[in-house]
Amino acid sequence: MPFGHISAHPAPGAESTMTRFAAELERLGLAEFLASFPGDSVDCHQWACGAETLDGVLRDLVGLLLLGRPMRIDRLPDPVADAVPTLADHGIAVRQGAEVQLVDVSLLRAQGIWLFAEPPSPFTPRHYFGTDSINLARRAVYRPGARVLDLCAGPGFQGLVAAQRCGRATLVELLPDAATAARLNAAMNRLSDRVEVFAGDLYEPLPDQTTYDHVVANVPFLPTFSTREPADVRASGADGFDIGRRVLAGLPGRLAPGGTAHLTALLFHSDGKLLMEEELRDWACTAECGLTVTLTDRMPVDADSALVQTTMSHFQESAGHADPDTLHAEVTEMYARDGATGARLAFLRIDQGASGIRILDPAP
Ligand SMILES: C[S@@+](CC[C@H](N)C(=O)[O-])C[C@H]1O[C@@H](n2cnc3c(N)ncnc32)[C@H](O)[C@@H]1O
Repeated sequence: MPFGHISAHPAPGAESTMTRFAAELERLGLAEFLASFPGDSVDCHQWACGAETLDGVLRDLVGLLLLGRPMRIDRLPDPVADAVPTLADHGIAVRQGAEVQLVDVSLLRAQGIWLFAEPPSPFTPRHYFGTDSINLARRAVYRPGARVLDLCAGPGFQGLVAAQRCGRATLVELLPDAATAARLNAAMNRLSDRVEVFAGDLYEPLPDQTTYDHVVANVPFLPTFSTREPADVRASGADGFDIGRRVLAGLPGRLAPGGTAHLTALLFHSDGKLLMEEELRDWACTAECGLTVTLTDRMPVDADSALVQTTMSHFQESAGHADPDTLHAEVTEMYARDGATGARLAFLRIDQGASGIRILDPAP
């Protein structure tokens, strides 16, 4: 896989095309339309209902950009039609005759950032965005003027939020396609000058010795059958924390004095006791960092649970041929193997220079 540095500047001309595109969408009311739904929710059903109340070009744009409908290019306002070649070059849209249609993605808007990404779905996306993305961005703390590193950047949401707040951000994403989308998203938000994007593996593409005031990483956290599954960028090992573990291992060398890091994790527990508690405590002690683990959503791991179903569909998507009953039994056994009785979606906050581990479980 070709890794390398990508400046956040799209081809000459493309950047101004994308800023005019975003400005036109705002002028026509698309940002207002999206802001009408609770929080930063991504809900295609609500968008479709909302679209029924619209008419004219805004209704067409909701169809094209949010609902994945094809649209005649000659019916689009000029700044939107002008962006079609750039969207096609970046793998975001396809032209078919006189029509254009987005490929898998929608144009989302969260925390004031325009983002081409895939709305949450049970299928594994190329350009990830989920409720965990929003919740991590809500928790991450950024000081003005700070240097920020976004590992596992996907189409760029965390890094773009950070660049908007801090001034500069460095993004690293393994999938070249997603890194390309991050570059386009930076341009659309007028952040190209404040963002650099690397296509590569975690810390590997970064210049030696460079440290950051804040590191943010919404790591993949679904457990995978590492022995049977083909090499897969989404894999995060048998306990779902392989990528998180590698992020933690590299942090001491990359976090500036007094810096902070924010990560997501899916942590398994046995009747309330986190299976990884000792490992996390040892890491915090060795790394001379304080670690705050905030537990959120509860996820059962029994045979009928959504986690077992999601893990199964993840595996079937990549390997396709497994017998569903055998797979179901294997996945259920995998979760029970270490005595897990459930899992919690967790957010880790790391404070360089502090010490100890705290576990917060504030939700009832
Ligand atoms: C859960 S998504 C997060 C996307 C985005 N940061 C967000 O918060 O919405 C995880 C991303 O990590 C990427 N990834 C997986 N392994 C990686 C690695 N070793 N180095 C860099 N990125 C990786 C995946 O391709 C995916 O885009």
